[in-house]
Amino acid sequence: MKPTALITGASGGIGYELSHLFAKAGYNLIVIARSKDKLNQLKEELNGHPVTIIPQDLSEPGAAEVVYGKVKELGLTVTVLINNAGFGLNGMFADLPLIDQQKMLQVNVNALTELTHLFLPEIKAARFRSIPKGVMNVASTAAFQPGPKMAVYYASKAYALSLSEALVEELKDTSVTISTLCPGATKTNFFKTAQAEHTKLVSNMMSPASVAKTGFLGFVKGKRVIIPGTMNLGMAYATKLIPRSLAAKLANYVDS
Ligand SMILES: NC(=O)c1ccc[n+]([C@@H]2O[C@H](COP(=O)([O-])OP(=O)(O)OC[C@H]3O[C@@H](n4cnc5c(N)ncnc54)[C@H](OP(=O)(O)O)[C@@H]3O)[C@@H](O)[C@H]2O)c1
Repeated sequence: MKPTALITGASGGIGYELSHLFAKAGYNLIVIARSKDKLNQLKEELNGHPVTIIPQDLSEPGAAEVVYGKVKELGLTVTVLINNAGFGLNGMFADLPLIDQQKMLQVNVNALTELTHLFLPEIKAARFRSIPKGVMNVASTAAFQPGPKMAVYYASKAYALSLSEALVEELKDTSVTISTLCPGATKTNFFKTAQAEHTKLVSNMMSPASVAKTGFLGFVKGKRVIIPGTMNLGMAYATKLIPRSLAAKLANYVDS
């Protein structure tokens, strides 16, 4: 039996690049996103590599159970879960519609938590000696500080990091790797979706291919927190040394 990687948000950006890397490393793929056409295109590009497409809107309550049910109906078992699907919204907390922020939480927090809970038992039970197994949650450098004008997004990424770091400790006596990928600004559709293309955040962006490669290599090495890019790494550590009130002011500055 071959190992299988389930990747959410595989239709574009970082998730699309991670899909190519995990396929190249020999994992069969299960790919999730709303854009069925883009997932089909990814499958075509992978040229006969086993790819199962599950089109699913993860902002719908219960979506994780639907995904889990379809994976089981198909008789598949997951070895690596990559919770990459996510989005941000730029604007003042009180002005952004609550329904949109709830959908963001549903994708960035609830689907991530539920998929991890549903698939962790089979990941723990998977018997692959030399092939890494585990969960990679895609957070952000936003996880390290409060983020005015993207308040719920930053908080959702802090949640993803905190959950993942707790699971590292819970699973320390197993062969399950739990990694959190914390990219800084990356050139994807993220800023368009978040309506943040006017902010200073877009002034220095990494390519999604380079972020995914660092993420993949970090996961394979069993790293708990992966921060691609020297500047992002420096900023993440600097953030730990300053008061959170100052970190919030800096985040407010770059988000304008
Ligand atoms: N780009 C950055 O600067 C940056 C920085 C730090 C962290 N991140 C994180 O990296 C992850 C990937 O984002 P990206 O930069 O690659 O952005 P992206 O190009 O916009 O990709 C987002 C992916 O998530 C999927 N997605 C969004 N909403 C979804 C929903 N409701 N249901 C199912 N899938 C959904 C999208 O697919 P469909 O639209 O087809 O559904 C797409 O495949 C996110 O978690 C993001 O927060 C990004």
